[in-house]
Amino acid sequence: MSLILAIESSCDEMAMAILKDEREFLSSVVASQIDVHAMYGGVVPEIASRKHVECVSLVLKETLNKANVTIDEIDAIAVTKGPGLVGSLHIGLQAAKTIAMAYHKPLIGVHHIAGHIYANNYVQNIIYPSLCLVVSGGHSELVLLKAPFKFEVIGQTLDDAVGEAYDKVGRVLNLPYPGGPIIDKMAAKGNHTYNLPVPLDDESYNFSFSGLKSAVINLNHKAMQRNEEINQEDLAASFQDVVLSVLVNKTIRATKEYGIKQVLMAGGVSANRGLRNAMGEAVGQLDGVELLLPPMSCCTDNAMMIALAAKQMYDLKLFSDLSLGIKPNLDLENESVSGGNQNG
Ligand code: KG4
Ligand code: ZN
Repeated sequence: MSLILAIESSCDEMAMAILKDEREFLSSVVASQIDVHAMYGGVVPEIASRKHVECVSLVLKETLNKANVTIDEIDAIAVTKGPGLVGSLHIGLQAAKTIAMAYHKPLIGVHHIAGHIYANNYVQNIIYPSLCLVVSGGHSELVLLKAPFKFEVIGQTLDDAVGEAYDKVGRVLNLPYPGGPIIDKMAAKGNHTYNLPVPLDDESYNFSFSGLKSAVINLNHKAMQRNEEINQEDLAASFQDVVLSVLVNKTIRATKEYGIKQVLMAGGVSANRGLRNAMGEAVGQLDGVELLLPPMSCCTDNAMMIALAAKQMYDLKLFSDLSLGIKPNLDLENESVSGGNQNG
């Protein structure tokens, strides 16, 4: 039996969870600061770290209470070491190191994106090789998983991440932060009527969303200058349609090229209903390929995903020592079992 306490604080959520064995969660607590940052239209790093300091002990207490366990009973402490906001990461890491040192527990430093990817294990075990479309506020990547904790990034964004583009379009449409989930709902009610450029529709597996984002901003700006009304639901549908077509097409092409039998999605934007449906349909047309999706509660930042990735690392004995530091720009491939320096 194993009990892992996981801490995730890379952005504007302080989250902790306790995982028993493969996928039984004894507790999961997320202290979100979204209301505070919404006032500023996005995450303010200094505020995020100050709020983390205020709530870290309370979240720990609640996580242990809900699980009805003491720290003594925990087998390992997992924590997001990067990528993310420097100050935010620092609070979680200091808490984890303090607990690990005081209670003599092994420490596991987890890559945030590895966490998003292993959120899929909540449903069923990932089979290898598999392909994961990572779409979050900070990342858009196609990751090949060759074996447990063996990552190869075959494509990534050249500019904005998908979630970032969603949130910036949301801002232009005067929607509250974060715009992503709202645009998703609006898109379901609208039609693809606006003509927008399809970004980086090429042979690579890379993505680019800033041109599309700028096209939406320009379209909105011109309409305002001409005193024309924009149909926001149609614009949301047009934007989402173009985004999804690129994400789905490149994922399907890579699935065929690499002979993949299991496609995964990960990150906040994998909660997008339109994307889940479109990917489901496209993968459904491939013979013998299945689509694994993290549950909605595991898509946006939480500590369950960090615990699930940490469980893999625990089994592979990928522990860190107390010299572990935060890594705001951490490379996922470097975390692979054979190529990684887990302590560094
Ligand atoms: O993974 P996440 O919680 O944080 C990062 O690691 O970045 O992702 C947050 C991002 C935000 O940009 C948010 O707008 C987007 O995920 N998001 C969505 C949806 N739900 C969250 N974007 C589109 N549709 C959604 N339903
Ligand atoms: Zn995330």
